[in-house]
Amino acid sequence: MTYAIQAEGLVKRYGATTALDGVDLTAETGRVLGVLGPNGAGKTTAVRVLATLTRPDAGRATVGGFDVVRQAHQARSLIGLTGQSAGVDEALTGTENLIMIGRLLGLSRPAARARAAELLAGFDLTEAADRAAKTYSGGMRRRLDLAAGLVGRPRVLFLDEPTTGLDPRSRTGLWEVVRGLRRDGVTVLLTTQYLEEADQLADDLVLFDHGRIIARGAPDELKAATGGQVLEVRPVDGDRLDLVVKVLREVLGAVPETANGLVTAVLSDPAAVPAIVRRLDDLGVVAAELTLRRSSLDEVFLALTGHRAEPEAAA
Ligand SMILES: Nc1ncnc2c1ncn2[C@@H]1O[C@H](COP(=O)(O)OP(=O)(O)OP(=O)(O)O)[C@@H](O)[C@H]1O
Ligand SMILES: [Mg+2]
Repeated sequence: MTYAIQAEGLVKRYGATTALDGVDLTAETGRVLGVLGPNGAGKTTAVRVLATLTRPDAGRATVGGFDVVRQAHQARSLIGLTGQSAGVDEALTGTENLIMIGRLLGLSRPAARARAAELLAGFDLTEAADRAAKTYSGGMRRRLDLAAGLVGRPRVLFLDEPTTGLDPRSRTGLWEVVRGLRRDGVTVLLTTQYLEEADQLADDLVLFDHGRIIARGAPDELKAATGGQVLEVRPVDGDRLDLVVKVLREVLGAVPETANGLVTAVLSDPAAVPAIVRRLDDLGVVAAELTLRRSSLDEVFLALTGHRAEPEAAA
């Protein structure tokens, strides 16, 4: 197994804030590593350190075997970066932006022009190629940003919240791009606040909170490791919510949550379900919905940290 990215004990402080507090992580070559965490967890800081843009205060990291501090130049030759910290020039057209980057990377003018045209076509931007980037919609802007990160055919790509603020269609479009890069053998480190995105794209996940990694594993492993399963019950009659809560509390010994007419409780033993159904039946409670499902990543996060990872509005 080879690692495209390896980091050990990374620490980064900004004044009194410890943005990274001893981060160890690895990304296997050709896979997608998801970095998940709420605002301020340290995701962008980790990306900036790994992409050679910021020096760590302690610890070390390599990209493609090159030390990100001592061999930053070699590491940088493998890296593509897009997202919160990268940018395209608003005044230039899509084509001009990509040609400029190609020239900076040492491509000849014809080669830079050809690469720009190829990427613009690949990202469905050919029609907008000769318009200033400032006239692009948010989704187009994001696609241009991603194209800009790919001009140099990076082997390791950092995507910092690539889909934040995008509409669902643009988001799934970007997911397809990431899957295509993965098929081409590119290693991708992707930060996100969206659990579904992590679930969809990441082979491996690390959960960040307050500058530390609080859990790691494949999405399914993480879901299985905490909390087991979740039982959801929606009574036909909304007045009976309290009764449902009471039954779940009695049978499971756990405190259920109630939201939007749905009672949710973590279940460690699925054998408790028949007992719950019998109790509800005895009490004359009819369920419009009764579901047993696996924990979501959000519930995993909640179980580990006591707070949710996903911003409320984005759920
Ligand atoms: N240049 C900086 N100067 C001072 N503090 C900083 C700087 N960059 C980051 N921080 C602080 O470090 C912490 C981690 O920030 P970081 O941007 O890495 O979080 P994040 O996980 O990317 O958050 P978000 O989801 O909002 O992008 C925060 O408390 C932030 O305020
Ligand atoms: Mg960030």
